Amino acid sequence: MSVAANAPLTSTAAAVEVTARGRFLVFEGIDGSGKSTVARLMHERMNAAGRPSVLTAEPTDSWVGDMVRRGNREAASPFTETLLYVADRAEHTTRIDRWLNEGKHVVCDRYMGSTIAYQSVTLRPHLGDSAREWLRSVNAPFTLRPDVTFLLLLDPELAMERLDSRPGREKFEKLDFLRGVDDEYRRLAETDGYVVIDASRPLEEVAEAVWSVIARM
Ligand code: TYD
Repeated sequence: MSVAANAPLTSTAAAVEVTARGRFLVFEGIDGSGKSTVARLMHERMNAAGRPSVLTAEPTDSWVGDMVRRGNREAASPFTETLLYVADRAEHTTRIDRWLNEGKHVVCDRYMGSTIAYQSVTLRPHLGDSAREWLRSVNAPFTLRPDVTFLLLLDPELAMERLDSRPGREKFEKLDFLRGVDDEYRRLAETDGYVVIDASRPLEEVAEAVWSVIARM
């Protein structure tokens, strides 16, 4: 994007092209909350509004993302799984940073909040309540602070009902587990200032609620 209009009028040199850094928008929520659908809709809507946007997700489509998916199936230690999510994010963040520097907006389906919410639950038997702070400090040196994080809240039981209609349920998609993750997300919403969206409403209403925030950014 050119902001040459702000260049000094007295300058005889060619106008300096300055690219405004894009906005970093993250979508979080439990499995079945609908966040992937809403993230895609927002990405499309931003592009349609002339605000170039990249849609991306974690676990990523990179080789580290492949390791994450393999780790989910094969890892014997929950720490392996956790550190793979973190490694995937470290690589992903370099790409996100580049897109933002190119002036693109980045719509990201899951980011650090997913690790704090999900892995606080899986690591609790090992680390107790200190899991949260440990996860935060492991991520801290390389993660970017999103401009906004939307948390799509949906009762875990309803989320399970939505997931039941999908093939290939994952191990994470268990009610008790999702309840724990939901609690962690609610806590994060308060500590990290997430924008909380009631995702039990029809998709169009959820999308409008999210768009009304993005449109003002
Ligand atoms: P999900 O968004 O459901 O991807 P997809 O539907 O395309 O398979 O993510 C897969 C699972 O990974 C989901 O259950 C949440 C989990 N997850 C974590 O536990 N920690 C993380 O840091 C991330 C990014 C995901």
